[in-house]
Amino acid sequence: MNSRVDEAKAILAANDRGGYTVPTAGLYPFQWNWDSAFVAMGFAFYDTDRAFRELERLVEGQWADGMIPHIVFHQPSDTYFPGPGVWKTNHSVATSGITQPPVFAIALRQLHDRTGDDAKERVLALYEAALKWQRWWYRARDPEGTGLVALLHPWESGSDNSPAWDVALARVPTTTDTPVVRKDTGHVNAAMRPRDEDYARFIHLVDRYARCGWEPAALWERAPFKIAEIQTSAILLRAGEDLEYLAHRLGRTDEAAELSALNTRTRNALLGQWRPGLARFVSRDLVSGEDIDAPTQAGFIPLLALDLDASITDALLAEMQDWARGLKVPFPTTRPGAPGWEPKRYWRGPAWAIINWLLVDGLVRNGRADAAAALRQSTIAAIEREGFAEYFDPVTGEGCGGLGFSWTAAAYLKLLWEGADSPGKT
Ligand code: DGY
Repeated sequence: MNSRVDEAKAILAANDRGGYTVPTAGLYPFQWNWDSAFVAMGFAFYDTDRAFRELERLVEGQWADGMIPHIVFHQPSDTYFPGPGVWKTNHSVATSGITQPPVFAIALRQLHDRTGDDAKERVLALYEAALKWQRWWYRARDPEGTGLVALLHPWESGSDNSPAWDVALARVPTTTDTPVVRKDTGHVNAAMRPRDEDYARFIHLVDRYARCGWEPAALWERAPFKIAEIQTSAILLRAGEDLEYLAHRLGRTDEAAELSALNTRTRNALLGQWRPGLARFVSRDLVSGEDIDAPTQAGFIPLLALDLDASITDALLAEMQDWARGLKVPFPTTRPGAPGWEPKRYWRGPAWAIINWLLVDGLVRNGRADAAAALRQSTIAAIEREGFAEYFDPVTGEGCGGLGFSWTAAAYLKLLWEGADSPGKT
């Protein structure tokens, strides 16, 4: 199969809207937070200036309290719901009112390592934005100092309709102030998207938080959906490690010490979520106080941020191999055959290239180079067969959801080039 490098670059160029990249035309016509961080890491291989621009444009949406929102509405578009009129936030650039996993600092460190001292001023400005956001996470989303950060909306996970949210989301009413006028199902087959009932609950939460004026303490108080979440906490820890590294490079010793303490807290908290009987880590529902044991990819993402004992890594890997057995495209976002498993529906089973990216990095970190190489190769092969789909049916390998997807293009470049002898070479 021929490499699709030129096509990947062409997708990133076509989805450029002026220094930022939309996830895909039509379905997602604005700048999305974690999409842009993955995209910046893709650009970093061949155009570091453009990679910096991606992060800088995202920071235009940063709130005074430090939060970087999950969507920045740089320009109007009528192909997406809910737009700025539903969010009713108050920022100079229109944004949503919730956030997304903080991949940003991970991308920033990679950019720093590729540019060295050449771009010190740009790194410094972005480091300061990332540090403000890191502090926001701990202040706004872990006010009790547990070390795990909580999500108040399923969209904050990036894994919108994961079976992990089913029990907690069922408590959220389906009533909305805002009429729900979905646009996504006009772009993509409805059988691949979240159900109408999920959307009603998603919008109920937006309406409720808008009524609180998006004030973090009021949201914390009034949230009917509150999950101390391990995928986001693991990404936050990895971001914290990368920020601590940058703080040392930038001579910010006090901030390095502050970050180190936060990282230690989250490291210990994540280790406390290991469940040997399940061979996975689990999130906690803060409303019911119960573990969330729905079998999803999130249970393995702590590999990214922890240096685990070999016995834990062995158990995680054996479980991962069990889930992946017989699949055309691992890694499934829900264990095949589990209640709620739907191999074509968005986050209820499909394989996503960016999740595989995080797992590949986590396996490498924990000394499992062979398993990482196998996952890297099968992801590259899926993209070379099917193109830059949003995600893949793990059973048939079919590309699903939106097409011409930016983060799949970025993931392709990363997986192809980091697996090669000479990263960055075609
Ligand atoms: C959507 O609209 O599908 C997004 O995932 C929300 O961020």
